[in-house]
Amino acid sequence: MVTGGAGFIGSHVAATLLARGDEVHVLDSLVTGSREKVPAGAELHVGDIRTDAGALFESVRPELCVHLAAQADVGTSVERPDYDAEVNVLGTVRVLEAARAHGTHVVFSSTGGAIYGECDGPAAEDAPRRPISPYGISKLAGEEYVGGWNRLFETGHVSLRFANVYGPRQEASLEGGVIAIFLERLAAGEETTIFGDGEQRRDFIYVGDVVRGVLAAIGHAGGVYNIGTGVETSINELHAVCRRVTGVNRAPAYAEARPGDVRRSVTDPALAERELDWRAEQSLEDGLRLTWKTLQEAAAG
Ligand SMILES: NC(=O)c1ccc[n+]([C@@H]2O[C@H](COP(=O)([O-])OP(=O)(O)OC[C@H]3O[C@@H](n4cnc5c(N)ncnc54)[C@H](O)[C@@H]3O)[C@@H](O)[C@H]2O)c1
Repeated sequence: MVTGGAGFIGSHVAATLLARGDEVHVLDSLVTGSREKVPAGAELHVGDIRTDAGALFESVRPELCVHLAAQADVGTSVERPDYDAEVNVLGTVRVLEAARAHGTHVVFSSTGGAIYGECDGPAAEDAPRRPISPYGISKLAGEEYVGGWNRLFETGHVSLRFANVYGPRQEASLEGGVIAIFLERLAAGEETTIFGDGEQRRDFIYVGDVVRGVLAAIGHAGGVYNIGTGVETSINELHAVCRRVTGVNRAPAYAEARPGDVRRSVTDPALAERELDWRAEQSLEDGLRLTWKTLQEAAAG
């Protein structure tokens, strides 16, 4: 069962589970996801995790649930914190309860960027959690439920804190879409804008590496792991790599910094390397080339 399997990361997870021979069901409300993203061979159940998880788990009885469905937009979480909490907290509780009824193992998608807040260096899992958005708070609450369910019900669910994920099928309009935005605008000959001085640093991870992280966590007995690269890239550097990859050498425009934008956000992947035997493999330049190739193929029809 892949909740959010019609979204960016979920569609890649669903495709990889299908490729290894699993029967794959997707629960997605399509609020930001789309039917077209669901890979052929996976069964899409259009529904809401808040209201439909129980009945669907009852009929499918999944062994595994990769729980990716979420309100994943920071701006929306600020405008509508109640909706954000409903989906990310209540929805996660409903998924955990549906899983409990059928002994389903859960891998929960949390976030590094929104949970650690401003970082002094690569943040390990025990670094202070200082979320600065309702989204970060609701994801952290989700993690606490996952950990609490493990203690209460002796389940072995795992939480993964993804860094800034990019890759094919990411929507430029959704949260974290800076790479999709840069590539699409450069390709279209449009202006790209950097907010602030561009020296804010992020940990960009290719979606294929994230999917391998999910696979590594399946069956693991509990825990919270960063799924990041440990490598910091400034937005100015990112823009330069995007220009190299697209071959469009157009300088960015600069606009006023956005309130709440942290200067430094990077995760330390050492624990996942040690305990899950997982590490990110794709360099930013190679990952961007793969993303760019897919965008060009899509544009060519
Ligand atoms: N993209 C990133 O950089 C990133 C970073 C850290 C964590 N995450 C987490 O990874 C997960 C997937 O993110 P994504 O980038 O693929 O986002 P996405 O918006 O593409 O995918 C989320 C999916 O959840 C579905 N959904 C939303 N509310 C729902 C509900 N109530 N019931 C059923 N389905 C619902 C949406 O339709 C969408 O298909 C999210 O949990 C997000 O918080 C993403």
